[in-house]
Amino acid sequence: MSFSGTEVPARLLIRDLVQIATPRGHTAPLRGGELGAVDVFEGAYLLCEQGRIAAVGAMQDLKPLDGEVEELDGRGLSAIPGLVDCHTHACFAGDRVGEFALRASGAGYEELHAAGGGILATVRATREAGDAGLAAALERHVAWMLRSGTTTFEAKSGYGLDRDTELAQLRAIRAAGGVPTWLGAHSVPSEFADSGPPSYVDFLLAEVLPEAARIAEAADVFLERGAFDVDEARRYLRACGEAGLELRLHGDQFTEAGAIPLAIELGARSVDHLESTGPAGIAALAASDVVGVLLPASALFLGRPMPPARALAEAGAAIALATDFNPGSAFCESLPLVCSLACTQLGLSPEEALTACTVNAAHVLSRADRKGRLAAGYDADIVLLDAEDWRHLAYHLGGPVVHTVLKGGRIAWTTWA
Ligand code: NIG
Ligand code: FE
Repeated sequence: MSFSGTEVPARLLIRDLVQIATPRGHTAPLRGGELGAVDVFEGAYLLCEQGRIAAVGAMQDLKPLDGEVEELDGRGLSAIPGLVDCHTHACFAGDRVGEFALRASGAGYEELHAAGGGILATVRATREAGDAGLAAALERHVAWMLRSGTTTFEAKSGYGLDRDTELAQLRAIRAAGGVPTWLGAHSVPSEFADSGPPSYVDFLLAEVLPEAARIAEAADVFLERGAFDVDEARRYLRACGEAGLELRLHGDQFTEAGAIPLAIELGARSVDHLESTGPAGIAALAASDVVGVLLPASALFLGRPMPPARALAEAGAAIALATDFNPGSAFCESLPLVCSLACTQLGLSPEEALTACTVNAAHVLSRADRKGRLAAGYDADIVLLDAEDWRHLAYHLGGPVVHTVLKGGRIAWTTWA
């Protein structure tokens, strides 16, 4: 390594990489045969200028460069785009390791939630953390994600469920460089236990939405038994859409409760989870522009069936992969691990997995014009893998496959001494 990494070098050449792998570009999420269309350059270089990628190619095609150029030695390494985690709940205080231990002895996730634990336990911790405590917790979680190769992340509110804490979460996510999604409709807080979900939705729309819409980029709802039903979700999302937010849904996690038809009806950007989606839902999603975001770490962590990824891909649905990082159903910040699960449990190829957590995830976050590919004009967000074949991204099950992470042309994390 020859530069300190603290500044963005005007020009940076990463030379002699064994491989560079990048999904193809597209103006829409990749689907069908295109999902696995990854270009691989052997014996390759990446040239970055002012934090953006200027050129990618084979070393033998590298033209002599005049003027000052910082260099990184890519020998023994491969490069992929910085990973894009399009579904996390990373802005939470505390943890739920006690519940984790109870679940290991047989307690159910929904059962813990119904007894006032689960999401509501994290709501209590998050309300008590204060702005500084919440920012510190988020910073710690974001550092974990970065070390795993995530250079762009979305995070949801939903652990405040009151006006001030929901807005504090959204502000903290934005301040930490994340893409904020308003998940006011995550669960009904204890203050509304008697009046029920419709009056809580009334409160959200009247008291929180006007300010949340100024901070967040999207709105999300947990459409599930024990949370919000289709009518409540429709009312919440319609109002959020009218306020200018993109729409997303947690759907078909435990039951098929109408999330896919509602997502299509409202023109949502994504419907996420899909562990319980059946053949009709698969066909409907494949015929639509809604992206199915698959969260296999969550299914694994809860011991639930995996989402029907192969059937979705074969049917031509646009799919993305994300961690769902949260303290209850997926205490997992690692997209490389998610790629391993995609290949071992979901029947996706390494190429399909890479596309799903780079360019397709960037589409979910409206950033596919600058994130998720290694191509001229894209942000110089780059993961160097400690492997000569980039497919170790998925092959190395939970191992230290990430060698160095560059964000905007600057080394953000590295194993280089
Ligand atoms: O996506 N399903 C709802 N929300 C999260 C879990 C949140 C939690 O348990 O704290 C999820 O799995
Ligand atoms: Fe989630």
